[in-house]
Amino acid sequence: MLIDTYGRTATDLRVSLTDRCNLRCTYCMPEEGLQWLAKPDLLTDDEIVRMVRIAVTTLGITEVRFTGGEPLLRPGLVGIVERCAALGPRPRMSLTTNGIGLGRTAEALRGAGLDRVNVSLDTLRPDVFRALTRRKRHQDVLDGLAAARAAGLTPVKVNAVLMPGLNEDEAPDLLAWAVENDYELRFIEQMPLDAQHGWKREGMITAGDILESLRTRFDLTPEGEDARGSAPAERWLVDGGPARVGVIASVTRPFCRACDRTRLTADGQVRTCLFATEETDLRGHLRSGASDEEIAALWKRTMWGKKAGSGLDDPAFLQPERPMSAIGG
Ligand code: 5AD
Ligand code: SF4
Repeated sequence: MLIDTYGRTATDLRVSLTDRCNLRCTYCMPEEGLQWLAKPDLLTDDEIVRMVRIAVTTLGITEVRFTGGEPLLRPGLVGIVERCAALGPRPRMSLTTNGIGLGRTAEALRGAGLDRVNVSLDTLRPDVFRALTRRKRHQDVLDGLAAARAAGLTPVKVNAVLMPGLNEDEAPDLLAWAVENDYELRFIEQMPLDAQHGWKREGMITAGDILESLRTRFDLTPEGEDARGSAPAERWLVDGGPARVGVIASVTRPFCRACDRTRLTADGQVRTCLFATEETDLRGHLRSGASDEEIAALWKRTMWGKKAGSGLDDPAFLQPERPMSAIGG
């Protein structure tokens, strides 16, 4: 088991499959993109499956989430999902994606054993999408979402980040659209993870702002603390349900005390947290012939050192060196 000194157990593994992306969301990347990892530095498909196997069979991981960058850009994705689905015990598997290309791959992913998807979409307006992501791909995302729903990758969750001056007024429209299309919407507070270090505490739209805005059009009833569990989203029933909306208040109400996550970056580093300042190089050990037991022991030791919290609520907070696209969202 992956336990730490604060009594938490990590059962949820996020695996980044690539740091590359075909969008340039302003809260994530600069317009020109980033210096991508070199191919030899990325874990191979076999190495990823081996790491997931070790995590699932010996470390108590029950949930695997594939992320990026944009994980659909990884050529071997379907094969990786298929091989992970064959593990015993079989982990639950989801994909956190921007949805571009999902229209072509949703069926294959479902067939390979993927359970669910989380699709990022911040706006219903193509022009705002273009300003936020610097790409004209709004319709591709909508098509990807519809394909995921049709393929049974449900519940289809939609992640939205509200940015001042761009889409901050869109919360009620997004929720009305999500309810109508049977997507489960979750708002995520903007976190200081952009490569450009442009995040400002003063400017951010808080969970409080989002709820206030939603309540101008919807009746929201809390699902209660129990329902939150280790899930970061606090959820509300919309107009009495069954539709729900979630808000992930990573900055104003961090959920670190219940955190059940561990992370593997695309280049094979284990991280205890998105905001960790250190990582452990498992790739080097993998490639120098370490046994499964040695890898598992190193992973356990890393997680034992997990800090109490992200430090986001501390004014002296230091942004991690690597941006979210390199760490894995
Ligand atoms: N703050 C909050 N959410 C972010 N995401 C990417 N960068 C940030 C950030 N700086 C979101 C993406 C995706 C999810 C994995 O994280 O939009 O939905
Ligand atoms: Fe790509 Fe996701 Fe970053 Fe947007 S937030 S640029 S979709 S990795």
